[in-house]
Amino acid sequence: MGIDAAYQKCINPDCGARFDCGQVLFKCPSCGELLDAQYDWDRVEVPGKLSDFGRRWADRDNRLDFSGVWRFRELLDFCDDKYKVTIGEGQTILQQNDAVAKYADMKPGCLYLQYEGLNPSGSFKDNGMAAAFSHAKLVGATSSACASTGNTSASVALYAHSCGLKATVFIGSGRVAFGKLSQGMDYGAQTIQIVGDFDDCMRQVQDVCTKLGLYLLNSLNPFRLEGQKTIMYRIIEGLGWELPDWIVVPGGNLGNSSAFGKAFYELKQLGLIKRIPRMAIINATGADTLADLVNNKKLAWNAGRVGQAIIDDYYADLTARNFSPHTCASAIEISRPVNLKKCLRAIDICNGVVRAVTDEEILDAKAVIGKYGLGCEPASAATIAGLRHLRAEGVISADERVACVLTGHPLKDPNITVNYHKEKLGKFSNPPIEAPNDLDEIIKLIR
Ligand code: F0G
Repeated sequence: MGIDAAYQKCINPDCGARFDCGQVLFKCPSCGELLDAQYDWDRVEVPGKLSDFGRRWADRDNRLDFSGVWRFRELLDFCDDKYKVTIGEGQTILQQNDAVAKYADMKPGCLYLQYEGLNPSGSFKDNGMAAAFSHAKLVGATSSACASTGNTSASVALYAHSCGLKATVFIGSGRVAFGKLSQGMDYGAQTIQIVGDFDDCMRQVQDVCTKLGLYLLNSLNPFRLEGQKTIMYRIIEGLGWELPDWIVVPGGNLGNSSAFGKAFYELKQLGLIKRIPRMAIINATGADTLADLVNNKKLAWNAGRVGQAIIDDYYADLTARNFSPHTCASAIEISRPVNLKKCLRAIDICNGVVRAVTDEEILDAKAVIGKYGLGCEPASAATIAGLRHLRAEGVISADERVACVLTGHPLKDPNITVNYHKEKLGKFSNPPIEAPNDLDEIIKLIR
């Protein structure tokens, strides 16, 4: 079957070094660039059409068919089934939502929300962890680690304890939302709070993993991104095996956007789709490295020859200014995204655009998604805020079919939500009303 057909490959076209999937590598040992999981597709038995995957719903007593990741296993078949880890991830919903569509100035029937907060740990990360922990099992890892703005740590902690690995998570002190912090501790991970931000944690964890031989679960790990490709397969599935016109996704460390671009590229290559949807990646203005580099500095994939000097200058300036990103959307409070180059490739594949939205826009959009949908955490709401920009600019038309990826559950960050409503921070604030302990007075208050 397919597993011998899988290998790791450097994304740098001037290097292109290949490695076996049995090796634990998070950067190319030859040139230091990012690695992809790749497949010799002629040696993989992929179904003739995407809808064939839908048949697996009938076999949900098979744990791999139940998983919303492994249901699509031929499209990410890098290990034998016996290594494949699942805790029931990917049972997520694509909801058509006309009230949120109206807020985003889209026509009825055109806006879809992909609720990845419905995963076991409450975020999209579980898609990636199912795949990455499978690779960890393949290579016999016993200890794992990650840096995180919170959701990765929650997901790593949950998967590690489910499959018998130790987990250490690195978080920036005071930078992680309460729900996420509570999960890491509850699921039994060792939590190291570093005096610094996510970018500091990301730097430290790579060195710690190298020195101590821990298995790294950040999205530098190419196998994690293989799991995240399935979010796109499920959106297509949710649309009756049809394609959306646009995918809108928040941009932080840029793992999702990279994975989505790769997913569509491969589906096209395999003849399973005829066109590739466009993608909009949304930063917060307080952490807008991608938006700035792409829109102002004109950084582009350029067939893999990315302007490294532009990136180096940009990061040198951040360092000189002692810059640390700040946004209420703590999940995407990142200024040195590790998947930058893969994301540029995805922008190239999907004819993508990048925008940045303010915290005020994020919070209002989040309240609308809460009021009319199933809710989400702040970073996820950046999608709807970004869509409003793209509608106002006319980049997206009101009658195009748009799928926004809502990456995390509303209970991840209760403080932000309570604060928005109680402190009347926005147009949609819905504060609690103080009442005396008196029936008549209480009745007068009910609207
Ligand atoms: N939305 C949520 C809820 C997230 O937790 C993250 C990333 C993103 C969006 C951004 O996704 O990195 O693929 O661009 N959270 C990471 C973490 C960084 O550590 O939990 P990305």
